[in-house]
Amino acid sequence: MKKIKVGISGYGVIGQRLAEGVALQGDMEVVGVTDLAPTLSVRALKEKGMPFKLFCAVPGKEKDLIDAGIPVSGTLEDLCEEADIILDASPGGVGAKNKELYVKKGVRAIFQAGEATSVGDVFFHGYANYEKGLGQKYMKLTSCNTTGVLRPIAAFDEAFGVDRVIMTIMRRCADPGDTHRGYTNVAVVDPGINHQAIDVMHILPHIEATGSLVHFPMTHGHIIEIFVTPKKKTTREEVLNILTAHPRIRVAKIAHGFQANASFFRYARDLGNPRADMYEIGVWEETLQFTRDEFFFKINIPQESDVIPENIDGIRAMFELQKTRDEAVAMTNKYLGLKPRGIM
Ligand SMILES: NC(=O)c1ccc[n+]([C@@H]2O[C@H](COP(=O)([O-])OP(=O)(O)OC[C@H]3O[C@@H](n4cnc5c(N)ncnc54)[C@H](O)[C@@H]3O)[C@@H](O)[C@H]2O)c1
Repeated sequence: MKKIKVGISGYGVIGQRLAEGVALQGDMEVVGVTDLAPTLSVRALKEKGMPFKLFCAVPGKEKDLIDAGIPVSGTLEDLCEEADIILDASPGGVGAKNKELYVKKGVRAIFQAGEATSVGDVFFHGYANYEKGLGQKYMKLTSCNTTGVLRPIAAFDEAFGVDRVIMTIMRRCADPGDTHRGYTNVAVVDPGINHQAIDVMHILPHIEATGSLVHFPMTHGHIIEIFVTPKKKTTREEVLNILTAHPRIRVAKIAHGFQANASFFRYARDLGNPRADMYEIGVWEETLQFTRDEFFFKINIPQESDVIPENIDGIRAMFELQKTRDEAVAMTNKYLGLKPRGIM
């Protein structure tokens, strides 16, 4: 079987996780990653023995890498020659500039949330609109929060139809180690409607979505409260069954010690997951409550790692490796070891 050759642009928080996630797929291989500076992640790549070849993202920056003892295998342009697809995880806005090269080289690309939605031919989520990605050349992926909220919303929508959702996002203000964002001890209120609600309506236009956002001084995961108005009457049992059956959702009990966003981080660390990564979003079981025929619950978004599976679904759609979302997400899940885990 010919494996899809995948290159990754930008070896930062998302890029290194994309590389490792793709490397686990039996039908894909990582042909290289790019960056432009000897960052901590690039230095760690070198110390690990260069499991991925590093290409220089910007001409003229090779010297900075070579001077730091980092082996450089070529330029981004060279990587485009070797790759069937580039997962662009460079800083927001850089991907759109890189797209000119991808188009010139005839290589497909998936862009991350920091890019304008217009950079892709489709705004994609593996569970919510897989079929729209079939055969596409350029794709924009949802943000970590939108990726997370769409998992349960799409599952409810399929089961009983969703009329409206309202979501309040308690957004982490930085990733662990982001000292450039300053010391953090404030809660900053965002004006207007959060972009995640607008994104949900973009991908599932028949659902009305709205909500607000407050930035919180924390790094271990966003917390989102989702309020759902179903089209058909449902029960707490049905909703819980959908959540626990979802391979990319972990339902945990506060009573079992999952009291905070950091509890999921700590659990992932205790599992031995690299960097305490978790591909799954978390749901606090006790927060699932009904009011009349509507319900609400809180989810945890491990922002550094939850977008990896849907990126891989994107590759599957673009190369039509699987024709249906069920087959595709099942394959990604299999390779990443994702499966329903009941209530933790
Ligand atoms: N961090 C998160 O929680 C998160 C979650 C989901 C999506 N995203 C999105 O993923 C993308 C990447 O974000 P990140 O958090 O990984 O950023 P990051 O800053 O951790 O990593 C970006 C990497 O790209 C490198 N770089 C800089 N200029 C470059 C260039 N011209 N070409 C290639 N690489 C270059 C940087 O040296 C850095 O290593 C953004 O679009 C972001 O919105 C981030």
